Amino acid sequence: MTHRTITLLTALLVSLLLPATTVAEDYPPTGPRLKSLADLVDFDIGYASRYNFREQANATLYEQIVKAEFNIVTPENSVKWENVHPDRNRYDFQDMDDLVTFAQQQNMVLHGHPLLWYNQNPAWLDTLAPAEVEAAMVDHIQTVVGRYKNSIAIWDVVNEGLEDTANGGGLRDNIWLQAMGEAYIVKAFEEARRADPDAILVYNDYDVGTLTQKSQEMYDRVSGWVAAGVPIDAVGLQMHVTANFTQYEEFSDNMQRYVDLGLDVYITEFDVKALSVEDYIPQADVYEGVLRRCLAEPRCQAFQIWGIDDLNSWQPFFDPLPFDDEFKIKPAYYGMQRALSTRVLNLEQGAELVGFSVEAGALRRTADEAWVSLPDVDLTPNFQRMTLRYAAATAGNTVELRAGSIGGAVLKSIELPATGTASSYAVVEAEFDSAGESPNLVVVANTDDAATSALSLDWIQFSAPTISLVGSGNGTGSGSGSVGWLTLGNLTLWALLVAGTRRRCRRGNSQSRSDS
Ligand code: XIL
Repeated sequence: MTHRTITLLTALLVSLLLPATTVAEDYPPTGPRLKSLADLVDFDIGYASRYNFREQANATLYEQIVKAEFNIVTPENSVKWENVHPDRNRYDFQDMDDLVTFAQQQNMVLHGHPLLWYNQNPAWLDTLAPAEVEAAMVDHIQTVVGRYKNSIAIWDVVNEGLEDTANGGGLRDNIWLQAMGEAYIVKAFEEARRADPDAILVYNDYDVGTLTQKSQEMYDRVSGWVAAGVPIDAVGLQMHVTANFTQYEEFSDNMQRYVDLGLDVYITEFDVKALSVEDYIPQADVYEGVLRRCLAEPRCQAFQIWGIDDLNSWQPFFDPLPFDDEFKIKPAYYGMQRALSTRVLNLEQGAELVGFSVEAGALRRTADEAWVSLPDVDLTPNFQRMTLRYAAATAGNTVELRAGSIGGAVLKSIELPATGTASSYAVVEAEFDSAGESPNLVVVANTDDAATSALSLDWIQFSAPTISLVGSGNGTGSGSGSVGWLTLGNLTLWALLVAGTRRRCRRGNSQSRSDS
């Protein structure tokens, strides 16, 4: 009996034995904590912290979870104007200070949110004459950013500055726009930079994770700001999505265009709407899928969920978070755990590139015999799922995964259907048996096509193959199927702890600053 057969049988057995009601389990989870996995690859995994987080039902458990799981935190409401600046001449920093102390004790990065927004503003702001609004904005930014200069590393400077497409798009009407016109955005970034020259400054918005009209408008505006020298370091893509999300390619392409502008990307306010418990598995797939795409992009710095539990979510009827109303663990948690356990190799990091050149972050084939060597890939467990992102202008391309060296055994040969052009990307997945093989892998590109630049490779990920059990509908219905898969996933994940090799461009370094 092969390892794969045993794996499949175990999954089936577990799914039949465990009752469907155990779809959510008590904390702590099986397998490694999200934070320990993220730390391995120098990645930020985060949550939005409740206002007054110490006073709530389940406060002890809440603290236990956030301390164990996350290395970055955003205040969900603590530093919004209505809370932090309740009167014209009075600031109230108590709740934010408390969170700062907590985060520092836990060695968490702080991501401030938001400096300017159309919502949750105090009534006194509306009483100002237009001519007074700019001074109030400057005072607010200098006071708040200045106070947390040594503690808050990242700021959402302008939040949701764009109008919905259904309402005609353009800049969203708000008190800042009315008083200063579009110059308010430039001014806000400049003031934030002046208040803390080292902070990472972010433009954050929603419905802009994929390639929509609104995201195009955001991209056009952000490129304009970058070209005009506005001190912006990153974009925040809020990603309040649904369990039937499938646009992973658009999401990767979207991140790529901001990276090409020299910006970092933050996945902010992530949550996934589920319509029923049956959606918990697809919901977990979306947590995994989006996080894996973020991890494949070296400048996607963080994946931050908006809350932790469904009860306290801003949209509680959609159960969008990885913990349920009682803070029990949902499949979405394991989706993130699987993604963070995935080994990512950005191909240009290969020790040896033969017949490829690096162009705009991707590898383009330049010779008939083209291959990339990937040294020291951790191949436990023996069965691996390999995910490769590529673009092929023509049909007839394959890649071979070889063990050890260019002359080594072929572990897998994968066909790469044409994607249209050498820069429109697609993803192929394949499973292969790596038992007893060398950790050094070689990816060989084969093609009959004389146009050697017609194939490009972007990245490759190695992960546990178990998720396909869910995709193929194995098990006895969504409830019990999920349990089998979760349990199996954990067993596999225990074996999958690998050292990270992902090269990250850290915030505040010369690259992110000078590029922008
Ligand atoms: C939400 C909070 O989660 C709620 O607690 C609050 O009542 C309203 O605001 N986009 C944003 C966040 O940028 O600040 C919003 O947070 C959710 C939508």
